[in-house]
Amino acid sequence: MPKHNSPIRKAVFPVAGLGTRFLPATKAMPKEMLTVVDRPVIQHVVDEAREAGIEHFIFVTGRNKGVIEDHFDSQYELERTLADRGKHRELEMITRDLPGPGQTSFTRQQAPLGLGHAVWCARDLVGDEPFALLLPDMLHHAETPCLAEMMKAYGEKGGNVVSVSPVPSDQTHLYGIVGVEQPKAKVSAISKMVEKPPRGTAPSNLHITGRYILQPEIFEILANQESGSGGEIQLTDAMLTLMHDKKQPFHSVRFDGHIYDCGSKIGFLMANVVYALARDDLGPSFHSELKKLF
Ligand code: UTP
Repeated sequence: MPKHNSPIRKAVFPVAGLGTRFLPATKAMPKEMLTVVDRPVIQHVVDEAREAGIEHFIFVTGRNKGVIEDHFDSQYELERTLADRGKHRELEMITRDLPGPGQTSFTRQQAPLGLGHAVWCARDLVGDEPFALLLPDMLHHAETPCLAEMMKAYGEKGGNVVSVSPVPSDQTHLYGIVGVEQPKAKVSAISKMVEKPPRGTAPSNLHITGRYILQPEIFEILANQESGSGGEIQLTDAMLTLMHDKKQPFHSVRFDGHIYDCGSKIGFLMANVVYALARDDLGPSFHSELKKLF
């Protein structure tokens, strides 16, 4: 039996979705490789995981996603050429954040049957230990990275942890929503969970933002999980079973930064503006260019 407070060493990144909201850009290119300033979206999220102490990065990929594997591999010819040409800054930039040998794994979700199914595809790579799960299209912008805050709460509470943040009450039907025991607290026990509740039935306006710490028993549940909302195998439904039937604790951590849904056009455009303005090397000149537009 795994302990429910064992260290979190592995993170899963489900990247097998179709990205239909971003067509035609995503016809042949994964949406996770769209760039926010000069880094692919997936790189920002892998950075967040590394900063939280993750040692092994597991990608659940699908058709047309091979370029993600290449992105996290060393590019010998490019590195050689940059070194020969004295482009040391650029060389540093492409090698600095590369996971080391044996620190990445890739598995395949053959058909996009839903997030729950994508997570289940990682079961053998995760094994019998708790793990982090990060939805790569949700960029969490904050001084302290979201997963790092969750790791702290996990260190105190153990069990399962999800990041939450408020959405306008008329939008709760679009998200996974939780009900919590202490709505104003930074960390609270979760009492309810529902994926895309019909209008007027949500237990709160706190939505699950796309960052999770989960115990491995979730895989047994996902193995038999029926399709839920939208005809997809939903992770939230499996988490509910883990909480109610298996009596595992779930805690929420309120995320106080900004979230950009880079799977949507507005979220993606806003992320580019905000991340560029926050950069020392780009922010001031970008700001003065933007001012000329208005
Ligand atoms: P989304 O709900 O954003 O789905 O998935 P999507 O298919 O990628 O995008 P749209 O709605 O068609 O534009 C959230 C995350 O879960 C992954 C996606 O890759 C994304 O990172 N996912 C979703 C899978 O890996 N497999 C699935 O079957 C569904």
